[in-house]
Amino acid sequence: MPRKYFIKTYGCQMNEADSVRLAGVLESAGYQNIGGSGYQSADIVLVNTCCVRRHAEDVALQYVASLKGLKKKNPEMIIGVCGCVAAEPGVDILKRFQHVDLVLGPNEAEKLREFLKPLTPFSPSPLVRGKGKYKGEGGEFVTIMRGCDNFCSYCIVPYVRGREVSRPIDEVLEEVGRKIEQGAKRMTLLGQSINSYKYGLANLMRAMGPAAERRGSQSEEPRHSVSGSELVQFLTSHPRDMSDEIIEAVAELPYVAKEFMLPLQSGDDEILQKMNRGYNLDHYRGRIKKIRELMPHARISTDILVGFPGETEEQFQNTLKAIEEIKFNEVHMFAYSSRPGTPAAQLLDQLPEKVIKDRLQQLISHVHRLVA
Ligand code: SAH
Ligand code: SF4
Ligand code: F3S
Repeated sequence: MPRKYFIKTYGCQMNEADSVRLAGVLESAGYQNIGGSGYQSADIVLVNTCCVRRHAEDVALQYVASLKGLKKKNPEMIIGVCGCVAAEPGVDILKRFQHVDLVLGPNEAEKLREFLKPLTPFSPSPLVRGKGKYKGEGGEFVTIMRGCDNFCSYCIVPYVRGREVSRPIDEVLEEVGRKIEQGAKRMTLLGQSINSYKYGLANLMRAMGPAAERRGSQSEEPRHSVSGSELVQFLTSHPRDMSDEIIEAVAELPYVAKEFMLPLQSGDDEILQKMNRGYNLDHYRGRIKKIRELMPHARISTDILVGFPGETEEQFQNTLKAIEEIKFNEVHMFAYSSRPGTPAAQLLDQLPEKVIKDRLQQLISHVHRLVA
């Protein structure tokens, strides 16, 4: 009987992509995906965790805690905690959970191979990204860079995912080509701050032309189609680094979806500065203007974070006004959550929980009114 694995994934698309990679290692060691319904009888369970907000971390760790009983019944079961919580400074998973066997940070898929080596023979073929049978839940992802160098003052990602590392264009094209051969119709290029892709995001998108041709059919799509049949989209853009060159490439290339994920975070310049975002509202407006000039039907989504330390009622209102003005297609809304180790967590003017929650509620109603 082949051994079975189960991977539980929390967090963003980056984690989804990492789970595919972890699955690739497991499959090259002969393990088969047992899926959520059979996880109780898996030989190895990996929990891929997120810690961007406290709630996300709590939910993931509660799941880890819930596996204790299974381990007791089946002491042979391997339980691994992966992803962002596993790399969080000050969080000692092995100490906290006696039933966990293995801890892997977000960049440590290869460590899984080392761990499994004494237990099982590996297939001789080297691990090839995206070759395995495991499919993430959110579609086909291609991680083109890892880590983040931005250090937005509220954000824990740079501490858990480390410094930015970009994969060479050739390597990315190879993965894209392989996915197309396997029938992928659409894929999402991933980076925490994808506009700072070292080899140029516009260059990479242009270099995908032959791959798009091989996939075929999309060339008949109208130039500014938002039909969803394009080959690629990309996430997440940093407004500071959203260059004209990138916007122009998206506008020109028929196989690139006219979709932008451009997190504004706040509509107030002072808060943006305290967040260390590196742009002001006017700069952001300029980026939107450029996008809409070239692609009037572009789909623009954003992230908004309310309740940053010291945010006044007036500053919060500025965010509501900016949302009204810019007219996003989609707004992802978050209540500030203090993350230990980040500069914002050290600020003395943390807002009461109730104020933060109230603002999130107001924001949600505001956005619903606008799209209704
Ligand atoms: N690299 C991406 C995604 C980062 S995490 C980016 O820069 O946009 C996704 C979203 O989570 C962020 O855009 C932000 O709005 C939110 N977020 C990050 N840290 C947070 C925190 N400490 N509390 C609440 N929301 C947070
Ligand atoms: Fe976090 Fe900012 Fe990096 Fe996004 S760009 S992952 S919000 S530090
Ligand atoms: Fe993603 Fe959560 Fe990590 S948002 S980068 S899985 S902290």
